[in-house]
Amino acid sequence: VRVAVLYGGCNEEHDISRASAAAVLEHLDRDRFDAVGIYVTKAGHWVADDQPLDGAGDGALSGLAYAQNVLRSCDIAFPVMHGRNGQDGIVQAMLELIGVPYVGSGVLAGAAAMDKDVTRRLLASAGLAVTDTTVLTGDATVSTADRDRLGLPVFVKPARCGSSIGVSRVTEWDQLPDAIAAARGHDVKVLVEPEAAGREIAVAVLEYPDGRLVTGPALEITVSARRPFFDYLAKYADRDTTLQVPATLDPAVEALLHEQALLAYRVLDCRGHARIDFFVDENGRPVLNGVNTAPGLTAASQVPRIWAAEGLAFPDLLSVLVQTALR
Ligand code: DAL
Repeated sequence: VRVAVLYGGCNEEHDISRASAAAVLEHLDRDRFDAVGIYVTKAGHWVADDQPLDGAGDGALSGLAYAQNVLRSCDIAFPVMHGRNGQDGIVQAMLELIGVPYVGSGVLAGAAAMDKDVTRRLLASAGLAVTDTTVLTGDATVSTADRDRLGLPVFVKPARCGSSIGVSRVTEWDQLPDAIAAARGHDVKVLVEPEAAGREIAVAVLEYPDGRLVTGPALEITVSARRPFFDYLAKYADRDTTLQVPATLDPAVEALLHEQALLAYRVLDCRGHARIDFFVDENGRPVLNGVNTAPGLTAASQVPRIWAAEGLAFPDLLSVLVQTALR
């Protein structure tokens, strides 16, 4: 089976995608799959070569048209791309148009899950408790009534960006204009949220080729005191960030998280797999914070660690993702 691994991309999470793709190319079972790397530069240029990763630099033929020819020669595409122009349905729409099957969620789920505001509206309408969200568009700022309702601290974030890029924790209202400007640097739609109380828990959902949907053991994130929250540095640089899997949870709370993760996956019409992020308060009540249809895939990322704890090693996880997409 010839697998086109798409990576890079014209967005802020370009480097994370490169790290995820390097891990995917390293762990893909070479007895079953031939991998071809297709790289999208930060400027949005497509570069394809028959050699994974190292062939995709200078001297390789470039351009979307060439990349599409390579894609058509493959059995399946594996978009290992995060953020805008990667997991938000745009690359997936291109693959639909050229008739190449692909790993993971389709256009609707990718676009809906990319936008935290839209995600929460859809999930709230299905009865799930979601993070309280105030949406700022245009030049809007937070009204006095909203300030009173939200309280401090608040989080200010771009609606459609990942890895906590452009996110600020605001502890005084006079920090708000800078925080909004930082978020607007990444998206015209900005969200302001109260700080969620409680533990930060992720649940992974995986779809098997026979259609079975399975949840993995809950993972708890603990951020070191050095970081203000699970920000970009806490995610990718701080060695003291801990990811505990399985998280120590009351079995009833764990069961509720699994049930809600599956519901969110179905409501958004996800495919292949997803990571669902929650906060759980001291009474064991979950609040759903977001759905990630293209979670990080380095061996140290949350999703591979969750499945490894369940006995599904990274190469086997990748095989399930590819086989499910091929079915
Ligand atoms: N957006 C990053 C890659 C994640 O959530 O894993």
